[in-house]
Amino acid sequence: METRSVGFLGFGKYIPEKVLTNYDLEKMVDTSNEWIVERTGIKERHIAAPDQATSDLAFNAAQQALVNAGITAEDLDCIIVATVSPDMLFPSTACILQDKLGAKKAAAFDLSAGCSGFVYGSAVASQMIASGLYKYVLVVGAETLSRIMNWKDRNTCVLFGDGAGAAVLGPVEKGYGIQAIELGAEGKGGPSLYMPAGGSRKPASHETVDAAEHYIHMNGTEVFKFAIRIMVRTTNHLLEKTGLTKEDIDLIIPHQANSRIVDSAAKRLKLTPDKIMIDLDKYGNTSGGSIPIAMCEAAEQGRYHKGENVVIVGFGAGLTWASMIIKWQA
Ligand code: UT7
Repeated sequence: METRSVGFLGFGKYIPEKVLTNYDLEKMVDTSNEWIVERTGIKERHIAAPDQATSDLAFNAAQQALVNAGITAEDLDCIIVATVSPDMLFPSTACILQDKLGAKKAAAFDLSAGCSGFVYGSAVASQMIASGLYKYVLVVGAETLSRIMNWKDRNTCVLFGDGAGAAVLGPVEKGYGIQAIELGAEGKGGPSLYMPAGGSRKPASHETVDAAEHYIHMNGTEVFKFAIRIMVRTTNHLLEKTGLTKEDIDLIIPHQANSRIVDSAAKRLKLTPDKIMIDLDKYGNTSGGSIPIAMCEAAEQGRYHKGENVVIVGFGAGLTWASMIIKWQA
């Protein structure tokens, strides 16, 4: 059976209003603006309002993506929300979003792949569309990480932010769109980035709350080394699969975790700064939101041109990674 070509038809993003600067953080933990900028590249991040949950951020981003794709919520066949900070354990944030949008005919489910979640979700969506099962799938990466952050832990609280990005995937002109995908996982690295309690292993109790086990716990150095290794390796795999070379990459949109990770991977891939999309200075690491927010900003900046090769690459909790090469459609 011949499959359809699939691409990204429209993007949206939502960044909460409240800004938390590095200077604000200096008053909260033993850190400095200099340390954060030098070690991460992050200058500020945004924090959701007390009455905003992940589905609220997702809703705003999704609405914009639908407008930019030129379709309505009723056209959607499926909604996938990639998040590690859902509104609640169940029902899924995707189902809550489906209701808010009025996307009556859409199937809906959440996907847990940490910061790689949006690319994982886009891979799943692309195969649903390529096979002919569905025509339009909304993929959202949305997080309110501020709710699962230990604001006393300087190792993590300076890194993350809240935000949502969304994309509508659908059929595109033959030969264009997604050319190659790689998804991967190294489950043994799970303890490098995780939330210890609140699941079936360690249900919530007074003890787990007292021990701050409902927050993000991270071994930054392990994740750092993994990220650089995997970004370079998976991008090379995409090039092998498509027969393209490093010089053929016109734009790379990496997970926005740390500018040192991005710079180091880019150097090894011999990519010049003009080919790299970076917005982490403004938003910090928004986990599942990071890549779709950056993809949306790249669209706003007019950085997509027909026929050019765009790479998106994520890594995160799991540990997981996910990458894609897209030949941009008109
Ligand atoms: O989406 C994936 C999510 N996670 C990541 O992407 C994280 C990847 N890892 C990283 O980005 C980096 O490892 C960090 C930014 C987390 C840390 O940077 P680093 O260069 O690896 O620093 P380090 O952990 O080796 O710490 C160096 C020093 C330590 O002090 P000592 O032991 O040398 O005295 C830390 O205690 O910096 C200290 N430190 C801080 N100092 C000021 C750690 N956090 C802070 C802080 N402010 N916020």
